[in-house]
Amino acid sequence: MTDQRIQIFADVSELAAAVAQQIVTRAQAAVADHDRFTIALSGGSTPRAVFERLAASLLKEQLPWAKTYVFWGDDRAVPPDHPDSNYRMASESLLQHVPLPKEQIKPILTQCDDLDAAAQHYERVIQSFVPGSPPCFDLILLGMGPDGHTASLFPHSPALAVTNALVTATPVAPLKPHMRRITFTATLINAAAEVVFLVAGADKAGRLAEVLEGPQAPDTLPAQLVRPTNGVLSWMIDQAAAQELKHSYG
Ligand code: 6PG
Repeated sequence: MTDQRIQIFADVSELAAAVAQQIVTRAQAAVADHDRFTIALSGGSTPRAVFERLAASLLKEQLPWAKTYVFWGDDRAVPPDHPDSNYRMASESLLQHVPLPKEQIKPILTQCDDLDAAAQHYERVIQSFVPGSPPCFDLILLGMGPDGHTASLFPHSPALAVTNALVTATPVAPLKPHMRRITFTATLINAAAEVVFLVAGADKAGRLAEVLEGPQAPDTLPAQLVRPTNGVLSWMIDQAAAQELKHSYG
C-alpha cells in the first residue's frame, strides 16, 4: 500500500521552499545510499516557482550536482528553445544556474518527427541511467492540472492504459498548449522511491478534493493513477488549492 503524506502550506512561496528542501533531503539520502540521485522534473507554473526558489536559495549549494541526473516526466512536441518547452522552462529557471554537468541533463527529444520513436529512445536512456527494473527514480515531481491530469496523462487518453512501456507519445492534448506530448506512463511513475505532487491555486481546489477524497475514477482523474508501489507519495499543496478538502491533514 502506498505511503501517502499530505502537507498544506499558506502560499506558493512556502510550498516552494518546502519542496526545495525536500529535493535536497532526498538527493543527499540517494547519494549516501547508491551514489547517484535521479530526478524527473515537471512542467507547469507551480514547478517553475520551486525551480526559481531552489536556484535563488543557499539550498542549491547542498545539492550533490556532480552525482545528479535530471530527466523530464513529460514534454511537449516542440523544439527545446520553444516557449512551451518544459526543458526550456527548467533550464532557464534552474539548470543554467547550477553546476550540473551537461551530460547529466537528459531532455526528451521532442523535435523528432516520429514521437513514438522518441518515446522509445527516452525509455532506453532512462534504463541506462536509472537503476532498477522497472527503473526507480529517486524523485519524480508532478503537477496536477485543473482537469485532474498529471504529467501528460490526460483524462480518457489512450496513454492511461499503456502498461507495456515506460514512456509513451500522446495524442494532441485537450488543454493548452494543444499539441502532442511525450510522457512517463503510470508504470514508470509508480516505480519511483518518491513522487511529489505540487499543487497550487484555487482553480485546482474542486478537482483536488475529488482526487484525494472522492471515489476512484482514474480514467477521468488520471492523478489517481499515481500510487507508488514501494515508494512514498507526497502531496504538497497551497491553502488555495486545499480549500475544498473535507478532512484536515497534518
Ligand atoms: C505540462 C505538465 C503538467 C503540469 C500541470 C500543472 O507539461 O503541462 O507537466 O502536467 O504539471 O498541468 O501545471 P500548473 O502547475 O501550471 O497548473
